Amino acid sequence: MWPTMRTSTAALFGLLAIVTAHVDNKNRQGRQLVFPIVRSIEQPTPEYARPSRRLESVIVANRSDIAYYARLTFGTPPQPQFVLLDTGSYELWVNPDCTALNNELDARFCQALGRYNASASSTSLSLGESKTLQYGIGNATFVYHKDTVGVSNSTELSLNNLQFGVATETEDAPSGILGLGYGKEVATKYPTFIDQLAEQGTTSTKVFSIALGGKEEEEGTLMFGGLDAGKFSGNLQTLPILPPSQSPDQRPRYWINLKAIGSSSEASNEAKTYEESRNLTVFLDTGSTMTLLPMALAKRIAADFGGSEPDDNGQFVVDCAMAQAERTLDFAFDGTTIRVPYSEMIREFGIGMGSVKCYLGVRGSDDFVLLGGSMLRSAYVVFDQTNNAIHLAQYVNCGSRAVEITADFDFKSTRGDCSPLLATDRPEVTSAIVSGNTPTSSTAIGPSESAVSSGSHSDITFQGLWRIIALACAMIFLH
Ligand SMILES: *[C@@H]1O[C@H](CO)[C@@H](O)[C@H](O)[C@H]1NC(C)=O
Ligand SMILES: *[C@@H]1O[C@H](CO)[C@@H](O)[C@H](O)[C@H]1NC(C)=O
Ligand SMILES: *[C@@H]1O[C@H](CO)[C@@H](O)[C@H](O)[C@H]1NC(C)=O
Ligand SMILES: *[C@@H]1O[C@H](CO)[C@@H](O)[C@H](O)[C@H]1NC(C)=O
Ligand SMILES: *[C@@H]1O[C@H](CO)[C@@H](O)[C@H](O)[C@H]1NC(C)=O
Repeated sequence: MWPTMRTSTAALFGLLAIVTAHVDNKNRQGRQLVFPIVRSIEQPTPEYARPSRRLESVIVANRSDIAYYARLTFGTPPQPQFVLLDTGSYELWVNPDCTALNNELDARFCQALGRYNASASSTSLSLGESKTLQYGIGNATFVYHKDTVGVSNSTELSLNNLQFGVATETEDAPSGILGLGYGKEVATKYPTFIDQLAEQGTTSTKVFSIALGGKEEEEGTLMFGGLDAGKFSGNLQTLPILPPSQSPDQRPRYWINLKAIGSSSEASNEAKTYEESRNLTVFLDTGSTMTLLPMALAKRIAADFGGSEPDDNGQFVVDCAMAQAERTLDFAFDGTTIRVPYSEMIREFGIGMGSVKCYLGVRGSDDFVLLGGSMLRSAYVVFDQTNNAIHLAQYVNCGSRAVEITADFDFKSTRGDCSPLLATDRPEVTSAIVSGNTPTSSTAIGPSESAVSSGSHSDITFQGLWRIIALACAMIFLH
């Protein structure tokens, strides 16, 4: 979620991924921090399980495609708390008001994330100044504090006197947020988490890399000051982050140009390009569950997934069988195309009695165009504030090899260790654009009769489903 957009709150329930910030010495290679993204649903980490036996019952399914969390510790001695990882905003704040949530499931989840008690910390300092972030749904008012913030229980890796907010009042916000956007001298006057990692020399550049991991995977990685060469195939393609003056909302965000979106099939060696998708400016937002695209384009894409008009909640109900289609939705950038398997673009919900309902991971939005988790899971993304660039490659998981990113790092000749999952010789969606071809409708990929998916799905109540749908959209906040 972004200083304009965020995923919803209650959306996090029942369907969550945890980025545990376990950083121990063996994960520390050179000057970068490695954070395994653990989907601690079946096997919670001991620290996580202890205060939250109830959480295990809250997280009812393996689905982890809604939101991603980091476990940080606050104060001395360290008090752990999970916070939402968000490239769409830039401030860190904790302690949402769990009693101000609309349903009990949300409240239990919220309580299980941990709380920071400033009085119980010997290093805490209240700065007195307060701030309110206003969201499209909900809001948070917090008072700035400074305290030691750890990325593990190890004092070696803690940030001293880091400024963050401690909420005094929140509405519809079930977790604190770790904003990973631009900080000091761009969006804030004080050094943020990312700034301070670099300032104190924990990382040598203001760079972090994210592999959210596929829907069915157990973990992904977040790395500060480095990249994981075991999480992508091919070369990293460098794309400039648009300066605020050239971005749609004139704000410093991870805005990049997207040349086109298409759909292709390796099996039939065929590709099409969506006419409405040419030359879009998008930003990358791990805090948004959904990918938001202009409505006309969203409808065209939905039609190819067997959907039509959005429902009352703005969601496209699609044919579950499309999750088995051997096709990809292709996002073409200058020099690279990220192919998102249809299965990753479809969200499946159990609606009881063994029935499954499927939704497209894309929503229509004419105001903001962003690539959220539904797209980013298929990409390996290096967010590089030092060079004002995004370095992008196709996500593939073939192990782990941490590489430090220094000031003179050569991104161009850095190759991922993984072999491509898909043959690369299929038609490029961009070629149709370059040559000025009109998109071909090609083979029919309409809905099939058997709409039963064999994929795993969450087993949530219909009420829970409604909440998720209502809130899984990005929210807008002004400040
Ligand atoms: C979670 O995933 C595991 C392995 O894929 C599976 O055995 C288990 O039944 C799943 N649990 C739920 C609640 O979906
Ligand atoms: C916070 O810590 C103080 C000092 O240890 C303690 O007296 C107080 O009860 C704690 N508050 C809560 C809500 O746990
Ligand atoms: C937060 O949102 C609630 C509900 O919309 C509203 O009543 C309240 O005034 C808001 N608080 C602030 C500080 O904006
Ligand atoms: C973290 O550190 C605190 C204080 O040093 C200690 O009491 C606690 O057991 C540690 N937790 C873990 C999981 O190591
Ligand atoms: C793409 O959009 C940008 C900004 O809206 C514009 O400056 C540029 O000329 C466009 N490029 C093409 C090929 O249409």
